[in-house]
Amino acid sequence: MDVITALRNRKSVRAYLDKPVTRRQIERILDAARHAPSGANTQPWRVIVLGGAAKDRLAARLEAAFRNGQRGKPDYRYYPDEWFEPYQARRRACGQQLYAALHIERQDRQRRVDQWVANYHAFDAPWMLLFFFDRKLAVGSYMDYGMFLQSLMLAAQAEGLATCPQAALAEYPDLVRDELDIMEDQRLACGMALGYEDPDAPVNRYRTPREAVTGFTTFVE
Ligand SMILES: Cc1cc2nc3c(=O)[nH]c(=O)nc-3n(C[C@H](O)[C@H](O)[C@H](O)COP(=O)(O)O)c2cc1C
Repeated sequence: MDVITALRNRKSVRAYLDKPVTRRQIERILDAARHAPSGANTQPWRVIVLGGAAKDRLAARLEAAFRNGQRGKPDYRYYPDEWFEPYQARRRACGQQLYAALHIERQDRQRRVDQWVANYHAFDAPWMLLFFFDRKLAVGSYMDYGMFLQSLMLAAQAEGLATCPQAALAEYPDLVRDELDIMEDQRLACGMALGYEDPDAPVNRYRTPREAVTGFTTFVE
């Protein structure tokens, strides 16, 4: 698969087939992604790949924390406290597309909550990836991580696999570190679902829009 095709076809997948993905496949994807660039070649990524009972245990704890009303304390602030345009409108449209695809009405709080909780199970994908990096690193490492994550998603695409990057999996970093016996000095960046797409699931049947190049680019000569 060429890079442009992979870039255009990648999308967030939120329903997966009950079809195994081997460790060998995941190693191949990681082996490709490790070629991502990083400032001073620091390669800040540290990946935990969770499957089977280990994944189920963490998912159950995350779901319980959320359903019990426990407030997560993420290791960093992903979003602004106050939304503003044009980001607010894009964010709203993103949620509306998801709920429309699932025929979830605005007032149907229960189904909205259940859909959110599906995040903690990595949408029932066979694998959940968790991405850590050293707390002492600085803001630049977030850029490095972004490049690594996109590389990983494109490599998955080439392998015939689907992904969904998940900030939701980084909401309770203390719980995750506790469950996986990970040192406090490791910051949790985000997680990712990985598996084979269920192409028949309505939740996978929409595409999110993008601004045209002219909307975000200025040529100066
Ligand atoms: C770092 C990151 C975190 C994300 N976290 C979540 C998440 O927790 N749950 C979710 O359903 N989608 C999550 N997304 C997916 C975005 O909603 C999605 O990328 C965006 O709407 C564009 O759609 P596309 O990925 O299908 O092109 C995340 C995306 C990124 C890049």
